[in-house]
Amino acid sequence: MRVDGTWFRTIWLKDESTVQIIDQRHLPHDFVVEDIRSVEEMCMAIKDMHLRGAGLIGCAAAYGMYLACLRSLPCTKAEAKEHLAICAQRLLATRPTAVNLRVGVERVQAVLDKLLGGSEVDREALQLAAREEAKKVTDEDASFCEHIGEAGAKILEEIHRKKAKLAEPVNVLTHCNAGWLAFADWGSALSPVYVAHNRGLPIHVWVDETRPRNQGASLTAWELAKHGVPHTVIADNAGGHLMRRGLVDVVITGADRVTRQGDACNKIGTYLKALAAKDNEIPFYVALPSSTIDWQMKDGAEIPIEQRGDEEVKYAEGLGEDGKRRKVLLTPAASPAGNWAFDVTPARLLTGLITERGLADSSEEGLRKLFPEVKLA
Ligand code: MRU
Repeated sequence: MRVDGTWFRTIWLKDESTVQIIDQRHLPHDFVVEDIRSVEEMCMAIKDMHLRGAGLIGCAAAYGMYLACLRSLPCTKAEAKEHLAICAQRLLATRPTAVNLRVGVERVQAVLDKLLGGSEVDREALQLAAREEAKKVTDEDASFCEHIGEAGAKILEEIHRKKAKLAEPVNVLTHCNAGWLAFADWGSALSPVYVAHNRGLPIHVWVDETRPRNQGASLTAWELAKHGVPHTVIADNAGGHLMRRGLVDVVITGADRVTRQGDACNKIGTYLKALAAKDNEIPFYVALPSSTIDWQMKDGAEIPIEQRGDEEVKYAEGLGEDGKRRKVLLTPAASPAGNWAFDVTPARLLTGLITERGLADSSEEGLRKLFPEVKLA
């Protein structure tokens, strides 16, 4: 996407030994690019959320495996295999919920395993193969998201056609950040918004602030503002009220993992929005690339839910009036806090799943129909 006239993806290679990312901790106030030169640095960037969002975590994991093939790669085959397995485990341990992380690691590992079948370690061949696979994972993520945009824009156009006054915008509510910052490019939930907006459809987005880390207020609002999409940031609890007042036409969120029966795990608070949408007969879509489907898992109750530090709930962070970053304590210092980062919305509450291949029913049958090539053990 374009940021002040320059095209950016969220992750790219600066040179053969340096991966660059947009350090999202500084947004919306500062645009900072960070250099990442080792698998340890990549693990820290994922864990401490310099980058985040299911798709982007997958790309970062793939580039993490590429970095593991650089300087630190041992010369003997057994040692190289052991080193790569350790690096994969480190990456896998950074964040538990988004399945894309596993997909990113496994894709590069599979390519490396093939090359490690021979008798010698050809470092150059391993590096080249890992780099190409990480780039492929990233390009594919961007392309899938662009296709999600086209499929989702059709839904928005259909909603617009049914409006009494055509000048009225389609009001979309979204939760957290599933825009281009959460992927290599385009985004999942926001991609239909960008495509529809680019085609001239009047559109307005209600942006849930998304406590405790405020990805909606800081990232989604920033993205939409940069792209010129009309939007309003709302407190997380406002959505139900707006739905009852007829001010929401459709809800679109992203997902960090969707099971094969269509249960969707997304940022904490998504489930409550889905309940409110159901009660108000408002369509609720989850947008996702197929890399977010966990075919091995059926029931959303099995998805590991990340629990983060209580300081994210107890403190809020932002710019003070003096323009300096500040962290302020919101609670009594001694009060404990709980910080579940995700929840699961059962398939029955969803109107459909928007994928790169089009719209799927949120059911095992619906997903299998779109992805018939997937064979389950
Ligand atoms: O904790 P995060 O910021 O990595 O969470 C991911 C998200 O932004 C959301 O859950 C999003 O809606 C799905 S990721 C495309």
